[in-house]
Amino acid sequence: MPASMIFRLDEKNAVVTGGAMGIGLGIATSFVEAGANVLIVDIDGDAARTAAAELEGRGTKVAWMQTDLTDEGSPEEVVGRCVEEFGSIDILVNNAGIYPQVPMLEITPETFDRVYQLNVKALAFASRAAAARMIEVGTGGSIINIGSIDSYHPSMVGLTAYDTSKGGVLMFTKGLALEVAPHGVRVNIIAPGGITTPGTSKPLAESKMSPEETEAMMAKFTEMVPMKRFGRPEEIGSAAVFLASEAASYVTGTTLIVDGGRLLG
Ligand SMILES: NC(=O)c1ccc[n+]([C@@H]2O[C@H](COP(=O)([O-])OP(=O)(O)OC[C@H]3O[C@@H](n4cnc5c(N)ncnc54)[C@H](O)[C@@H]3O)[C@@H](O)[C@H]2O)c1
Repeated sequence: MPASMIFRLDEKNAVVTGGAMGIGLGIATSFVEAGANVLIVDIDGDAARTAAAELEGRGTKVAWMQTDLTDEGSPEEVVGRCVEEFGSIDILVNNAGIYPQVPMLEITPETFDRVYQLNVKALAFASRAAAARMIEVGTGGSIINIGSIDSYHPSMVGLTAYDTSKGGVLMFTKGLALEVAPHGVRVNIIAPGGITTPGTSKPLAESKMSPEETEAMMAKFTEMVPMKRFGRPEEIGSAAVFLASEAASYVTGTTLIVDGGRLLG
């Protein structure tokens, strides 16, 4: 395949979990631009419907589905829905994740479980359902799990449950990649650094900090990034297009860190 075509996703059918906003919407948008049909899956049905409407009319099929991925059976239903809508599943992006900021000395078992249930267990079972289908059909496929720079290194106090879950994503991905590689199913991770999304902006907007304090805190975080800025959702989208495409046909079990150099410091 010529290099001009190798990054295209024409006729590929993709699921993006947590695709209604933030990084997930960035990935869904990049996939549509690269030619893929996309099923946006989100707990927020209204936001998913709005996101799908925005992406319609760009030459590919876009569908949406409201579900809480932590519900029993939800990950498998998502894969079934993609097959129902588009005929197959070629790409799964496990992006939905939560990152409540609570120090370990204060966290409740319920909050710890909530993080684990979505960030690890739902991701694992959606991956399993997608891989099983890809193997059954015999076409192979690409599974992309959204980890974090926190898969490698805690970025701040208050994210220990999250860091534990994202460390789990790292090892789960390697284990599954090893298991399904003979079937042509590739499983990789994108590890974003700080990306401006509703999930990162909302707590700041709702905090009791003054605008000056918020600005000072943001400046402190930005200072720690060698590229001196936060990332944008579409910059994770580009990385996902690469990993989903033929350009990454021999890439599995690895992590693409997209962090403006943050882990260098
Ligand atoms: N933003 C960052 O700086 C950053 C950095 C590293 C990793 N990440 C990871 O990227 C992913 C997306 O982060 P974001 O900042 O875009 O988050 P966000 O909060 O802006 O968006 C997350 C989306 O997931 C959906 N969602 C939440 N719980 C769900 C559930 N139970 N079932 C289905 N959908 C659910 C939300 O409704 C939302 O649309 C997460 O896995 C996060 O850990 C983010």
